[in-house]
Amino acid sequence: MLARNDNLFKKKIYKLKTLDDNIQNIVREAVEAREHAYSPYSGFKVGAAVLCADGKIYTGCNIENNSFGVGICAERCAYSKAISEGRKNFKAVVVVAYQEKYFTMPCGACRQFMSEFGNVNLYVTKPGCEEVFVSTLEEMLPFQFQTSNHSFD
Ligand code: THU
Repeated sequence: MLARNDNLFKKKIYKLKTLDDNIQNIVREAVEAREHAYSPYSGFKVGAAVLCADGKIYTGCNIENNSFGVGICAERCAYSKAISEGRKNFKAVVVVAYQEKYFTMPCGACRQFMSEFGNVNLYVTKPGCEEVFVSTLEEMLPFQFQTSNHSFD
């Protein structure tokens, strides 16, 4: 397992109760969405929720496939639902999964996928939701791949 920079990491952990109500709300939605995970191959359930600039929330879960590489992560599921319904401006994304000792961070592919649509606040928690890792997508993926700047409107 990779080591974490403990002090840097701990500074980013907040009690859920101290976060804004709208963030507490999307955290709960992500926890619920996790229950819909289809993950018979890994047994690992992930839930996500994205808060759009207009206040609408889209949720997602990981959806695996017998052809393993075909599966989709929870974050990309949530973003895809939002984008396919006309949303491209996002404020926050939540990722929820359970590992006893670790917060489950969004994978590199999801970071790149989400970064296409600009920076967002990022919240990572476990189903109990007591503590939340708070960061931004930009912080999680500095210097992402891009060939030009795009407008998101
Ligand atoms: N997974 C996600 O849903 N999001 C991530 O950011 C990382 C991994 C899923 C993919 C797969 O279904 C399971 O977790 C185990 O890797």
